[in-house]
Amino acid sequence: MAKFLYNGIHMDYLQYSKEYLMNTYNHIPVVFTKGKGCKLYDVSDKEYLDFTSGIGVMALGHGNEKWTAAVEAQLKKLVHTSNIVLNVPVLELAKKITEISNMSKVFFSNSGTETNEGAIKLARKYSFDKYGKGRSTIITLDRSFHGRTMAALEATGEDELHKYFYPFPEGFRHIDITVESLEKAVDSSVCAIMIEAIQGEGGVNPLSREFVNKVFEIAEKNDILVICDEVQCGLGRTGKLFGFNNYDVHPDIISVAKALGGGLPIGAILCNKKLENTFNYGDHGSTFGGNPVCAAGAIEILNQISDKKFLENVAEKGKFVKEFFKNKSFKNIKEVRGVGLMIGIEIKGKASDAQRKAFENGLLVLTAGRNNVVRLLPPLIISKEELEKGLNIIYKTVESM
Ligand SMILES: Cc1ncc(COP(=O)(O)O)c(C=O)c1O
Repeated sequence: MAKFLYNGIHMDYLQYSKEYLMNTYNHIPVVFTKGKGCKLYDVSDKEYLDFTSGIGVMALGHGNEKWTAAVEAQLKKLVHTSNIVLNVPVLELAKKITEISNMSKVFFSNSGTETNEGAIKLARKYSFDKYGKGRSTIITLDRSFHGRTMAALEATGEDELHKYFYPFPEGFRHIDITVESLEKAVDSSVCAIMIEAIQGEGGVNPLSREFVNKVFEIAEKNDILVICDEVQCGLGRTGKLFGFNNYDVHPDIISVAKALGGGLPIGAILCNKKLENTFNYGDHGSTFGGNPVCAAGAIEILNQISDKKFLENVAEKGKFVKEFFKNKSFKNIKEVRGVGLMIGIEIKGKASDAQRKAFENGLLVLTAGRNNVVRLLPPLIISKEELEKGLNIIYKTVESM
């Protein structure tokens, strides 16, 4: 195994990873030390093009100067207080995020899965308050991904991820993504339907307009809440502020995380007016949620991402990707899909093999689906030249497999 020279010392970090880290990730064999924009540098200073954004987190790329300055300034002032008191960045962030999302109130958490746990609790409490016990079922979709903690994992529509971990919390109903399955699944026990407008981990699957419209139509008719999990497809990724903005709908609850922190852990449950007084003292909480340092960074992220021109630019780069693949011939590629800079390339071979080969060619990509989709989530600030370079690498890599 390769030994690296780092700070003048030879270290075998890859061996460390085998010895000390639990085996939850099949790591790509690389150890990074720094990043700038869309580029990452390993311990030997080799450069890689990052088409992962740390799985949809580094929307503004690595080393964004304004974000760094905001975080640094807050680090020097106040790092943590607790939520029994208030701090300035979290109040400013609460105002900003509810205004730009057209929502009423927000609760801050630390990760996507924790945010979804809170969203599930919020939906159930709303229903309990209004209808009493027994109306607590949440409908979720085949191939969805909502996180790794027990309720969010049970909400996730992928049996393979469940098999060792029973028993799960009750009250989730997984359905195929068809109008018929949806209609069949709705009964008087249902309090919410949870969707990703564009599924990420499940293989980059944009939901059809017909299906999304039906979700909202059924929900409205039956006072069922719609939760949009925007952890991956939200915050500018698709060229709109939220993934659901690609459809003419507005949910009752939005969960966001990933890109909101710019690399620091923060998530947010946003709710509309109907739910603004559902949670009361003691119903939910978090020690770190709304941490002033994460919040200071998040304000800067939202300032940049919610800018109209910024979003138009992402949408334009999304079109560029579509154009790139339009006139290409495919041998190993089955389909290219996605919205904005959330791109899935379904291939005939194993996506993990393509990922390793792309890495050898200097490009970091993700996999998705059932190891049949190469997923690209480049930083949203990527230049057209970098985008074209990365697309050429992945196209050639897959087609030469
Ligand atoms: C749509 C969606 N929801 C929830 C999560 C879980 O987020 P986290 O890993 O921050 O807990 C993810 C992570 O990939 C996701 O894509």
